[in-house]
Amino acid sequence: MEEVKVVFYGVGAVGSLIAKSLLEKKGVKIVGAIDIAKDKAGKDLGEVLDLNKELGIIVSSDVDSVLSKTRPDIAVHATSSYLKDTYPQIASIIKHSINVVSTCEELSYPYYSEPKIARELDMLAKKHDVTVLGTGINPGFLMDTLVITLTAACQRIDKIEAVRIMNAATRRLPFQKKIGAGLTSEEFKQKIEKGEITGHVGLKQSIAMIADALAWKLDEIRADSVEPVIARETVKSDFIRVEAGKVAGLRQTAKGMMKGEGVIILDFQAYIGAKEEYDAVTITGVPTIKQKIQPCVHGDAGTVAVIVNSIPKVLKAPAGLLTMKDLQVPSAAVEDVRKYL
Ligand SMILES: NC(=O)c1ccc[n+]([C@@H]2O[C@H](COP(=O)([O-])OP(=O)(O)OC[C@H]3O[C@@H](n4cnc5c(N)ncnc54)[C@H](OP(=O)(O)O)[C@@H]3O)[C@@H](O)[C@H]2O)c1
Repeated sequence: MEEVKVVFYGVGAVGSLIAKSLLEKKGVKIVGAIDIAKDKAGKDLGEVLDLNKELGIIVSSDVDSVLSKTRPDIAVHATSSYLKDTYPQIASIIKHSINVVSTCEELSYPYYSEPKIARELDMLAKKHDVTVLGTGINPGFLMDTLVITLTAACQRIDKIEAVRIMNAATRRLPFQKKIGAGLTSEEFKQKIEKGEITGHVGLKQSIAMIADALAWKLDEIRADSVEPVIARETVKSDFIRVEAGKVAGLRQTAKGMMKGEGVIILDFQAYIGAKEEYDAVTITGVPTIKQKIQPCVHGDAGTVAVIVNSIPKVLKAPAGLLTMKDLQVPSAAVEDVRKYL
């Protein structure tokens, strides 16, 4: 059988990491790359990925030309978090009858924030007989798919809590900047107001996906405001030094409410100097389940894995806009990708 042909739509930080991982993998072939960034479009993909060799693939901003010339089986899409921005991009891929796996956070459970766009994408995907999936490490796995999987061992569930705490010092500089590390509280507040710091996108989508899997009708999904985590002592990463009293990162919580009670509670914390890094899920019920992954799963490495491992699952899935809870039980595709088709 021929190799699975892949086009990249967005070769920024995450798209590049996924592309590098696919270059090492058997059974897949990168046949094209799309990006509008001035420092990428027109260059060889090997140069964009810092490989010290050319791959013979020129990164192009002409979506239709790349997709019609290369005829890939699937597009790995990694440009932006919000469906309003990514909807036309994803629709343009579907119109070429090409499957999509995307890191767009809102696409992980689009029926919550953008039900109209979700229905349109679903209809378009069915019309062109392709599958579309939004996924990643979070949203996509740690605070939704993994939680849903753990509920399989419960007879009764009263409450679900998931916590992710990461020490941002071990992450890329752009991530440390994205969470406001090193700012004063006032600067943090201003950047939140201007939308320059958005916090983590996806908590509401994760809650909606869990509730849907359990057939729970939530009265409301409440996202609390993004709060700065203030350093109690001086903390530092390789790039940023945070004096005591300044912002080390951020914390964000969201609750799925039923009859005035928070029944699904997600707590995301990312800051420089976190002493303990972990992903924890507590399901209170019969039986009560407590699960802790320590240290927490690395965000970039985990995202690359979830996207790559989803490729054969997406190719085998029925047509339409699917979410992680609609696919086969998630698992790694460690061997030649064609073995999982
Ligand atoms: N679900 C998850 O677990 C997960 C994990 C990691 C990342 N993500 C999300 O994945 C997205 C990508 O992340 P990233 O860190 O790689 O971002 P990034 O470094 O900003 O890369 C995005 C790339 O896509 C390009 N782009 C933007 N709009 C485009 C368009 N219309 N057509 C073609 N290219 C376009 C950007 O160009 P410009 O720079 O010129 O805009 C940039 O080169 C983000 O929204 C991120 O939040 C999700």
